[in-house]
Amino acid sequence: MSEKNIESSLHEDRLFPPSDAFAKQANLSKSEYEKLVKKANTDFEGFWSDLANENLHWFKKWDKVLDWNEPFSKWFVNGKTNVSFNCLDRHLEKRGNKKALIWIGENEEKKELTYKELHEEVCKFSNVLINLGIKEKDRIIIYMPLVPEAVVAMLACTRIGAVHSVVFGGFSQEALADRINDSKAKLVITADGGYRRGQIVPLKINVDEALKKCTTVENVIVVGRINNNPQPSTINHQPLTFSWHELMSKSSAIHKATELDSEHPLFTLYTSGTTGKPKGILHSTAGYLLWATLTTKWIFDIKDSDIYWCSADIGWVTGHTYVVYGPLSNGATVLLYEGAPNFPDWGRFWKIINENKVSVFYTAPTAIRAFAKAGLDWVKKYDLSSLRLLGSVGEPINPEAWMWYHENIGNKKCPIVDTWWQTETGGIMISPLPGITSSKPGSATLPLPGIFVDIVDSEGKSTGPNEGGNLVIKKPWPSMLRTIWGDDERYRKTYWSHIKGSYFAGDGARRDKDGYYWVLGRIDDVIKVSGHRLSTMEVESSLVSHPSVAEAAVVGYPDDIKGEAICAFVTKKSNIKNDKTDEDLVKELKEHVTKEIGSIARPEKIHFTDALPKTRSGKIMRRLLRDIASGRQTTGDTTTLEDVNVLEKLREQEE
Ligand code: PRX
Repeated sequence: MSEKNIESSLHEDRLFPPSDAFAKQANLSKSEYEKLVKKANTDFEGFWSDLANENLHWFKKWDKVLDWNEPFSKWFVNGKTNVSFNCLDRHLEKRGNKKALIWIGENEEKKELTYKELHEEVCKFSNVLINLGIKEKDRIIIYMPLVPEAVVAMLACTRIGAVHSVVFGGFSQEALADRINDSKAKLVITADGGYRRGQIVPLKINVDEALKKCTTVENVIVVGRINNNPQPSTINHQPLTFSWHELMSKSSAIHKATELDSEHPLFTLYTSGTTGKPKGILHSTAGYLLWATLTTKWIFDIKDSDIYWCSADIGWVTGHTYVVYGPLSNGATVLLYEGAPNFPDWGRFWKIINENKVSVFYTAPTAIRAFAKAGLDWVKKYDLSSLRLLGSVGEPINPEAWMWYHENIGNKKCPIVDTWWQTETGGIMISPLPGITSSKPGSATLPLPGIFVDIVDSEGKSTGPNEGGNLVIKKPWPSMLRTIWGDDERYRKTYWSHIKGSYFAGDGARRDKDGYYWVLGRIDDVIKVSGHRLSTMEVESSLVSHPSVAEAAVVGYPDDIKGEAICAFVTKKSNIKNDKTDEDLVKELKEHVTKEIGSIARPEKIHFTDALPKTRSGKIMRRLLRDIASGRQTTGDTTTLEDVNVLEKLREQEE
């Protein structure tokens, strides 16, 4: 959050209580909420036990609610359940003919699947996986556009106990190869392409390139998104490649969901930390599904009559918990849109809401700011009266954007749920409850029942009203990450070594006099560009891998639309004979990062410099670079700087 936004949030005292009409019909009433809070405070395990009993289907009940051996947790120990069964089979009797998915392609195509049809597809694909020799706990990479087959693939993995790892389709072949290698995946599921802003994203070509660096993959399955049925002749044979459509046409639609242990690994999802190496966040079965189910019911107030749309891609955790698992477990009708928000124009989202009578809509602040900038004319062309609830996720929403969303999209009648959570938390931790909580624009408000959050100083002591500090979670929760894939030590060090006995989120926050939480942004070297999480080190390593670069330092700086943008300070290798102009090299480096990571990591600004500001012990002083990139005066201490002249030179360049 920029300084300006922090400042404006401190003076934010507007309060938006839920309307009586909304409160009356809400899934969670005030009295139920109060009971839940009391139970969580007085009987923590009983609280979770009741909720697990009431909200999930179990093949076998658990022996013990929680086994906590900090920092490792096991929830609903020895219970047996299945995510796909909970998302599909248990709805068939009552909702078999209800729409489960409404899919809209970027080129206006539309496909709908009822719960019965989705169940059939998932059973068929489960058999496909089994016939290819996939066993429980085998890892499967899903690198696909947002098409119904992607959801089918995810659910089929969970049905047979394979561990999926969805890789965002915007990631490069390098990033894909890293993730395949780290997870030692046996199978890759992809498509011959996807549509994004009218262009074809060459997913299959990226897979072919990535696989040159991987040895574990035995098979590849390709969905024909661009050509209905990609012919084997267009497909390489090493590893063996199959057409999705051909495999499905021969597969049986009968499959019994496997009874899996509560702690069976469900998926890994790679996300950026403070090093150059992305980490595979591991979630497990029962606890994750329980919290996905409950939060969707409480926060999005899902009803059978709703058309629910979360605009996230399945490549991010929001696309896992609130596009697929949470809503389907609640038997909701989920809308999926494959394409870009501004294709063919800035009215696309509003047209989709209008035509499909979307009632619950969940998106990111960066999108809201971009829509606000594009102008109200795009909004006014469409009827948005079907909307009854709005959500926001991924980064702090500035009060101005909140108000724009409230007035122009919600027509001043829809509650807005500003939801704080992380890939690691699996589900929402802090959020208004739409029939209960009075919202303040820019605040995620209060922790949910059962979630024990605090703001503490570096000693672990709770801070007072409006004092900034570290956001921590003080008790384990069912959907918490179990570890970092293959690296228990990094898990312990990253999340459990900063503040004794608490999970360290890496966010700075403050709590106001009413106890409301205001998340201010990351306090580590993680940046949020358009809500996407990146590590400055990841971008630095990519820059340094270019032959002309000796050293690079990357920082985020405030951007009105993206929240943060990337600025890189680069020193060139002196021994390389360089006949390129700086302008050409800037272009080349931007392309290089795009190729290595993906376009989300492309630096906005690149400055060449002879030296970087370092301490006498050689540590780059990023704080000073952040000041320069943001055009701020340096306020902090510069006495540890090795050479003060470096700073002056950099400032001159920026001006
Ligand atoms: O900094 C916080 C920010 O996003 C981070 C988590 O990023 P990621 O794992 O990619 O998950 C994004 C979707 C859940 C957090 O550490 N963040 C997320 N939601 C909010 C937020 N910051 C402020 N307000 C939010 N509502």
